[in-house]
Amino acid sequence: MDNTAPQRYFASDNAAPVHPRVMQALASCNTGHALSYGADPVSERCQQRFRELFGKQSETFLVYNGTGANVVSVAAALRSHQAVICSDVAHINTDECGAVEALTGSKLLSVSTSDGKVSVEACAALLPDPSFVHHVQPGMLSLTQSSELGTVYKPDELRRLCDFAHRHGLVVHMDGARIANAAAALGCSLSELSTECGVDILSFGGTKNGLMFGEAIVCRDPNSLPALPFMRKQTAQLSSKMRYIAAQFEALLQDELWRENAVHANKAAAKLAAGLEEFPEVGLAFKVEANAVFARVPLDWIPHLQRHELFYVWKPEQGLIRLMCSYDTERQDIDRLLSRFREVAGR
Ligand SMILES: Cc1ncc(COP(=O)(O)O)c(C=O)c1O
Repeated sequence: MDNTAPQRYFASDNAAPVHPRVMQALASCNTGHALSYGADPVSERCQQRFRELFGKQSETFLVYNGTGANVVSVAAALRSHQAVICSDVAHINTDECGAVEALTGSKLLSVSTSDGKVSVEACAALLPDPSFVHHVQPGMLSLTQSSELGTVYKPDELRRLCDFAHRHGLVVHMDGARIANAAAALGCSLSELSTECGVDILSFGGTKNGLMFGEAIVCRDPNSLPALPFMRKQTAQLSSKMRYIAAQFEALLQDELWRENAVHANKAAAKLAAGLEEFPEVGLAFKVEANAVFARVPLDWIPHLQRHELFYVWKPEQGLIRLMCSYDTERQDIDRLLSRFREVAGR
């Protein structure tokens, strides 16, 4: 990187700073003593707010991070002889250092996907003979919304997957690290894209959308997952200073800040994708439906681009790069990146 490098990049929506309204909420709750482990007024208000969004019977469990949310969800729902069906590119499968397998004992059964989204047909092929003791038994279907490849499941796709899963006795988990981006893209509410379609446990992501840290596990029917509070504690995801996670979520939910942030990030990705059309050498690898742009670029362009910009090379041998937009991506960031593309293209 050169020293004239700018401050905002396309590496990850995780790399963006804390949203000022979230920072303000953290400062505002930082007065006096408050009971720990969620027995404080901010956490109680936050729980109430989540019930307004996901139904009176729902219960929300705040945790520190996305990997933890996934682990707690699996630990609460499955025994170790039961497996999780997920896509081959699912974060739980590729980027969590085997956390689900290590901490819950449940095996992941991955299905291949061309665009990050799993299909009913691919899942059906994994259903074993339930009487065959030598095979793990699928107990959960885990879907990522928006997917790791920046695509979005529509409500009818989700309903079909959830119906299939429930017919076969599978709990449906949604890794919603970026559900905000999916809901913003489709103009839906959070519940319309999750619990109303049949999702049983949702991990609603905060960190990629303006929070300092924190994810919320929303449980549609807590009675069906009685182990969940215990598993949150046992897996070290129960925060003693819960009010600081709750205050951040309160701010994110207030006046739909989550949507405002996600709409901004999605629009930035759409602008970037449109800008890349100028380069016949560059191709979009997947539909740009949320805030991720996956582009195939000539291999020899990558070192030049990386000298000036931070982004991840997804598949080096294919020249596949990931450009991630955030709630704070500016027009000038996109223009600057496109000017780097022009330089390397010799225009
Ligand atoms: C889809 C998805 N799920 C889960 C996570 C895990 O989040 P964390 O890094 O907070 O554990 C990430 C992080 O990049 C992610 O992209």
